[in-house]
Amino acid sequence: MRRPQIHTPLPGPRAQELIRLDTAYVSPSYTRVYPLVVDRAAGLWVQDLDGNLFLDFTAGIAVNATGHCHPKVVDAIKAQSDQLLHMSGTDFYYTAQIRLAQKLASLAPGEETHRVYFGNSGAEAVEAAFKLARWHTKRELNIAFFGAFHGRTMGALSLTASKTIQKRNYNPLVPGITHIPYAYCYRCAYNLTYPECHLFCVRWVEDTLFRTTVPPEEVAAIFVEPIQGEGGYVVPPPEFHREFGAIARKYGILYVADEVQCGMGRTGKMFAMEHFGVMPDIIALAKGIASGLPLGAMMAPARIMDWEAGSHASTFGGNPLACQAALATIDLLEETLMDNASLQGERLMAGLRQMQSRFECMGDVRGKGLMVGVELVKDRERKTPAADWRARIIQRAFEKGLLILGCGQNSIRFCPALTVSADEIDVCLSIFEECIQEVAG
Ligand SMILES: Cc1ncc(COP(=O)(O)O)c(C=O)c1O
Repeated sequence: MRRPQIHTPLPGPRAQELIRLDTAYVSPSYTRVYPLVVDRAAGLWVQDLDGNLFLDFTAGIAVNATGHCHPKVVDAIKAQSDQLLHMSGTDFYYTAQIRLAQKLASLAPGEETHRVYFGNSGAEAVEAAFKLARWHTKRELNIAFFGAFHGRTMGALSLTASKTIQKRNYNPLVPGITHIPYAYCYRCAYNLTYPECHLFCVRWVEDTLFRTTVPPEEVAAIFVEPIQGEGGYVVPPPEFHREFGAIARKYGILYVADEVQCGMGRTGKMFAMEHFGVMPDIIALAKGIASGLPLGAMMAPARIMDWEAGSHASTFGGNPLACQAALATIDLLEETLMDNASLQGERLMAGLRQMQSRFECMGDVRGKGLMVGVELVKDRERKTPAADWRARIIQRAFEKGLLILGCGQNSIRFCPALTVSADEIDVCLSIFEECIQEVAG
């Protein structure tokens, strides 16, 4: 079984030199949690500049859906790069963008024909959804959730409610957005317990919010992550989106699914919202869509995507290389990788649940497919967040050659490539267990 190989102190000498340059020249706003300087990567294996080998359970923050440098994706990019690098889909036509739009439309839920807008990132996909909702409804108010991360451009940031550092010094943001509690049942904002709560968090919107401060007929859209990502890999109860979607429909409010992190097969279905049996009005996509090339997409039924020429566009959005990478990615997802995400996700979840029975600090283990989170607590009874243990566990894992990341206040996320094998899951589990034992055992 292949295992990580760490030959040097971390960071090694070559990595140290690069980090010194980075510190001089690169924006200090980035949040590196450990000093990994990547040289090359294939599948789930990442080699740093000093030849150390790491097992990657971050997939570049849930992006490398098909693993690092999947040969079919690389071939598609190479073939396209011989033919056309850029022409700007805003002003001209080219095959890759049109074919990808057609493919995404064929995957869209429901019977209606969808149209697709292309940008370069998750934030741009959300930004486009935000503007389309305003355009289509001509309404000014919006609703989003605490814990949500929708991106960092000013519009997307206005919807984000993840960490105050992301908003500090940037106010005023776009007005008219009300944030409400998500169905984070492990830490219910109303101190209730599912299912006895009968989804009070949903009913509260109609019974209190719409009755007191937010006139529903002025609300353009509800922005929601089907499963919260940066907020802690929080999976809401099965009927949450159905009930929220019904309220939205009742008042002519658009239900916008931000599938940027949870979409593109990661949860075992192409769109995470499929697990909840809900058809969103608008879907935002990015991250895993193109296996690492920058691409964002926003799609909606033609009936909703009714904006006029000139109302929104992006020079680079839907770049030919990114579109070909996405077409190759989607083929791979459909062939085997979505099924593999379900299969290996179950193995990962079962392993973590077993570990949870032995370690008090693993307060909650949750997720779907290969979107799996572990919430760390000092004690199960009071659920005191163990953010310091989380940081040390991630650090120890890095030192042992396992790449993982945090999410939420005190959770660890596992979001490997959808190509992950059973052996790789087992290696991850064994290293993670060593780290838990050392830090909080
Ligand atoms: C759910 C969600 N939406 C939007 C974004 C923003 O994506 P990007 O960083 O590509 O702008 C992210 C990024 O983490 C995300 O997880």
